[in-house]
Amino acid sequence: MKNTYFDLIDQSYYFPQEGFDLKNGNLTFHGISLKHLIDKYGTPFRFIYLPKIGDQIKKARNLFNRAIKKNNYKGKYHYCYCTKCNHFSHVVSEALKHNVHLETSSSFDIDLIINLLKDKKIDKKRTVICNGYKTIDYLKKIVALQEMGFTNIVVVLDSKTELERLMNAAGNNKIKIGMRMAINEEPQSSYYTSRLGIRSNELIDFFNEKIKDNPMVEFKMLHFFVDSGIKDSLYYWGEFKKALKIYIDLKKECDSLDSFNLGGGFPIRNNLGFEYDYEGIINEIIKNIKSACENDNVPEPDIYTEFGKYTVGESGAIIFKVLEKKDQNDAEIWYLIDNSLMNTIPDSWSIHEKFILLPVNKWENEYKRVNIGGISCDHSDYYNSEDLNQEVLLPNMNDDEEEPLYLGFFHTGAYQDAISGYGGIKHCLIPSPKHVIIDRDEKGNIIDYVYRNEQSFEEMFKILGYNK
Ligand SMILES: Cc1ncc(COP(=O)(O)O)c(C=O)c1O
Repeated sequence: MKNTYFDLIDQSYYFPQEGFDLKNGNLTFHGISLKHLIDKYGTPFRFIYLPKIGDQIKKARNLFNRAIKKNNYKGKYHYCYCTKCNHFSHVVSEALKHNVHLETSSSFDIDLIINLLKDKKIDKKRTVICNGYKTIDYLKKIVALQEMGFTNIVVVLDSKTELERLMNAAGNNKIKIGMRMAINEEPQSSYYTSRLGIRSNELIDFFNEKIKDNPMVEFKMLHFFVDSGIKDSLYYWGEFKKALKIYIDLKKECDSLDSFNLGGGFPIRNNLGFEYDYEGIINEIIKNIKSACENDNVPEPDIYTEFGKYTVGESGAIIFKVLEKKDQNDAEIWYLIDNSLMNTIPDSWSIHEKFILLPVNKWENEYKRVNIGGISCDHSDYYNSEDLNQEVLLPNMNDDEEEPLYLGFFHTGAYQDAISGYGGIKHCLIPSPKHVIIDRDEKGNIIDYVYRNEQSFEEMFKILGYNK
């Protein structure tokens, strides 16, 4: 057994693999030299590789359409992108190039839709699915959007009380609505039933009492979302089949109902050994809906998904330099990086989410068990285990080497900017890193540019009320 970092990866996984390879001993990401980016932009920087967004959308859409054909399924598939996952204009615009519908989750999201309309990125026929808790402000904006001429807005009721608020806000507008079924969580969850949605055993009565004969609403969609992900587990299929049964029962009562929305939750690669049978799961979904509808003699619904993390997660990464190696005792070595993990990939700290972590250089060095530490003062600002490993193994940094070690956390494109409050006040005033956009032109040439420089102290001080 050899002991270089390269050998470790080579012996543990298939390598090179989709997106990751080595060139001249340094890591590349989708053919892009990370060393080149480091030399050009300096560290730390986060980047988004836009072409991956389209690849993901095309992949899911093709798989759904193939399964639809294979099963002779009568409904259509609709891909929605949920903006909450990554709101940046360049990200949403890239998804829209692939004709996705949009899912919103709060009042400002409706302003975002209006902005996209003004920029001619969407027209008024675009389907907009409004999820989330509906404040009065959010509802008023949704109604205003419909009054502007949007014809395909679906307001998904998150609770029973929302209908009354919606009716008060709607005036004379007839509104297309959906209902979200509250799921029961996985056994290890800290609560049993999700607060999101309407209890499954109340949906049918609620429909009969408040929706069926209500002339101001058109009931279109049943929505459910298993947030721990779409996976081939007894638990997932249990929730799925419960929702499907409710769909069928409602469909028997309601002609206008024609859409079954599976929410988000498609997984992404968070370790190099990741295996997931996207094709198999999608086929099972289509097959199950088809056979349940046939058994009960109801038409097969259109299927909607709202994939967030799946759409953008794998297009993002963040690159750090190791500033210092610190031996704190005989067994524990710390690699201190040039920003904070809590501030930049907050899910790694808050929900112990794992990302693919790889060194950019020094793959021929021996590997060592290390802890990665951020430069905030916080004890929790560290990363020392991986998805398939209780420890983090990285190339050793030898004292005689001039070149620093660079590390990348990959597939960080979903939620991290919003949750870390990109460009806002930061823990220990450690600035938001530089943000780089990478794209390819029609000929496949790489285009890269800075979207936003590292946050300056003036920007942060302005928020804090200094230097007015
Ligand atoms: C209603 C709804 N749809 C879709 C999503 C996206 O989930 P994911 O990023 O796991 O695909 C979320 C995430 O919170 C959600 O709340």
